[in-house]
Amino acid sequence: MKYILGIDTTFHSSAVGLIDEEGKVIINEKVDLDFTSQEAKKFYNFHNRNLLLLLKPILEKYEKDIFLICASSLEGPFHAMPVGAVVANTISHIFEKKIMGVKHEMAHIHANWLDRSIEDFSFPIIGLNASGAHSSIYAMKSQLDITKIYELKWRDDAEKPTGLGALFDIICSSMGINLKRGDGGAHLEILALAGKSRYKEKLLDWPLKRENKFLNLENTELYISEKLKSLNYYSLTDEEKKIFQKDFSSSVLDALFDLLISELFRLAKETGAKEIHSVGGITLNKIFCQKLASFCKINNLNFKIPAKLDYCLDNGAMVAISGYMKWKNEEFSQSEKSGFLTIEPSDSYYKYYVKHVLGS
Ligand SMILES: [Fe+2]
Repeated sequence: MKYILGIDTTFHSSAVGLIDEEGKVIINEKVDLDFTSQEAKKFYNFHNRNLLLLLKPILEKYEKDIFLICASSLEGPFHAMPVGAVVANTISHIFEKKIMGVKHEMAHIHANWLDRSIEDFSFPIIGLNASGAHSSIYAMKSQLDITKIYELKWRDDAEKPTGLGALFDIICSSMGINLKRGDGGAHLEILALAGKSRYKEKLLDWPLKRENKFLNLENTELYISEKLKSLNYYSLTDEEKKIFQKDFSSSVLDALFDLLISELFRLAKETGAKEIHSVGGITLNKIFCQKLASFCKINNLNFKIPAKLDYCLDNGAMVAISGYMKWKNEEFSQSEKSGFLTIEPSDSYYKYYVKHVLGS
């Protein structure tokens, strides 16, 4: 059996994965960094050290049978993504393996192919790819024919993360709940599951505009704080706030997920989609998945999320399968053909870093 190695250091995870030629996951391991502060030296040293530790046992056991090394190399912060890409490129030279660069967002979409075969899928497909840093709706005509239809936008500052995960953090902080960055989604879900969606009707006017490539939930931060104000949240006692937070979280998620799901269905109708997919961190949200699964069932659409929850967050196996698909389709760039990865960190994160990390 031949294997494909995937490496991802797009943001806070040092991740490596090994899959076989049928897309079966053999190894998928990662270590996560607390990214509350984002100093470059912390990221460099974390990824550098952890990649060496994670890769050593894999190379010792499987090196001879690995024929392709894939790495996220085409988007992501300058202080994270290039570390994995350079390591991948270096070991591909030392061990004389083919090298393939992938886009991190594309790898999330391909995570649905892990531990599944191509016969399991019916095209076209409409999907939601949502996490802390990015959220978009995409259409797939085939495994590699993928079009981003909408990027989700809910704040005007394009340098700050616009993923649903970041939005969940903001909703929590609007209620005065201060958490570690990235923990908002899980916290809102816990609150929502303990509450009742009794304020949903007050949230049916959530502004949504379709603007070119953007699905714009206009000024959500202000919208949420205005709603809390109109429901007298800020004058409640601490005890009353705790009860309110559960019902409000339940209502917010109910209203927001309805908006997203109705958009997915509108696009599924328009494109004749046979399947709806959800990938990325949003897929860990039980409320969202149950809602979407029941909509799909009623509307006779296949619904797929990654075969294991590990495949929803950043991981190396999704990078391996995404690069393997490109390899099968011979989508090598000129530079990859001669054994070099083209590494392109994102400009917008660099601007964010200068302004919000160095500037603060
Ligand atoms: Fe991601």
